[in-house]
Amino acid sequence: MAETELLNWDQAGIVRAAELLSEGRLIALPTETVYGLAGDARNDRAVARIYEAKGRPSFNPLIVHLPDAARARDYVEWTDAAQKLADAFWPGPLTLVLPLRDGHGLSPLVTAGLDTVALRVPAHPLAQAVLRVFGGPVAAPSANPSGRISPTSAAHVLAGLRGRIDAVIDGGDCAVGLESTIVGLAGTPTLLRPGGIPAEAIGAVLGAALATHTGGEITAPGQLGSHYAPGARVRLNAERAEPGEVLLGFGAMECDLNLSETGDLVEAAANLFRHLHTLDRPGIAGIAVAPIPDRGLGVAINDRLRRAAAPRD
Ligand code: TXA
Ligand code: MG
Repeated sequence: MAETELLNWDQAGIVRAAELLSEGRLIALPTETVYGLAGDARNDRAVARIYEAKGRPSFNPLIVHLPDAARARDYVEWTDAAQKLADAFWPGPLTLVLPLRDGHGLSPLVTAGLDTVALRVPAHPLAQAVLRVFGGPVAAPSANPSGRISPTSAAHVLAGLRGRIDAVIDGGDCAVGLESTIVGLAGTPTLLRPGGIPAEAIGAVLGAALATHTGGEITAPGQLGSHYAPGARVRLNAERAEPGEVLLGFGAMECDLNLSETGDLVEAAANLFRHLHTLDRPGIAGIAVAPIPDRGLGVAINDRLRRAAAPRD
C-alpha cells in the first residue's frame, strides 16, 4: 500500500470511506472515544489486514461497530440487560459482549474464535454517517500500532499508521478521549475494561454493581501489563518532575501540561492521550504524572496510566 488518503468530513469523504470499506480496504474512522482502524467485519481478508496493520497478537478479538441497537441485535442473543444498557448509553462509549447468534455472518477472525462478540454503537456523527452509508458491521480496534498510545486525532493516526492503511477520515479531536467501557453480558454482568462510562453509572441502570474480572484468563487483552506505552518512561503519583522528566499535572499546579487545571475528570480523560503524545518527544527521559483521583472516569484514566507505566518487555 503506497499512500494513505486523507478524507474530509463532507459528503464526498463519507462516500469514499464507505466505498473503501465495501472494497475490503482499511480506513481510520473517528469515534467519540478514539479513532478506530476500520474494516468490513464480514470480510476475512479485511479483518486479517487490521491485525497486520496494527501488528496485534491474533488472540485479541475486535469490537464490531453498528449504527444502532436494532442492527446490533442481528448478530447476538439479545438480553434484557443489553436492552437496558443500550437504551441508557447507546449511541455512546459502551461496548457490550454478548453470545453470537447462529448465522451471524461475521468473520471468525473478528472474535478470535470466541463464541461471544463485542458490539458498540458509536455516537460520533461522522462514524454514524459512514456506518449508515456503508450499511454493514465494521470491526475497529483503536487505530494505533499494537501497544502504543491510542489516537485521538487524525494526526496521531498518521504518525503511527501512515502507509499501512488506505485512508483516514478527519473528524477532529475525540471528545471522550479514552476507549469505551466494556461490559460482559454472556453471564453475570461484568466489567471487562473500564472506559468512557463509569462502572457506577452502568451498575445504577442494571440495579446491581458490575462484577469485576479477576480471573487469570485474558478475555480482554487490554488487561495485558504494558500497553498504551509512550517511548518515554512513565512515573505515576508524582508530586514534581525529577531532572530530565516533564510533569503532566492535574488540578491547580505548576507543570508542563495539565490534564485539567480545574480538576475535571471528564476534561482530563479527553486530554489524556493527546497530552501523552505531546510530551512523548525525543530527549525526554520520563513523564511524571500527578495523582489522579480514583473515582468516576478517574478509574479508567488510572487504568490507562498504569499500563503506560508498566515495565516493558
Ligand atoms: O472505544 C473503543 O472501544 C475503541 C473505538 C475504536 O471503538 N475501540 C477499541 O478497540 O478500543 P480495541 O480493539 O483497542 O479494544 C477491544 C477490546 C480488547 O481488549 C478486546 O480483547 C476486547 O475488546 N474484546 C473484544 N471482543 C471481546 C469478547 N468477545 N470478549 C471479551 N473481550 C472482548
Ligand atoms: Mg486499543
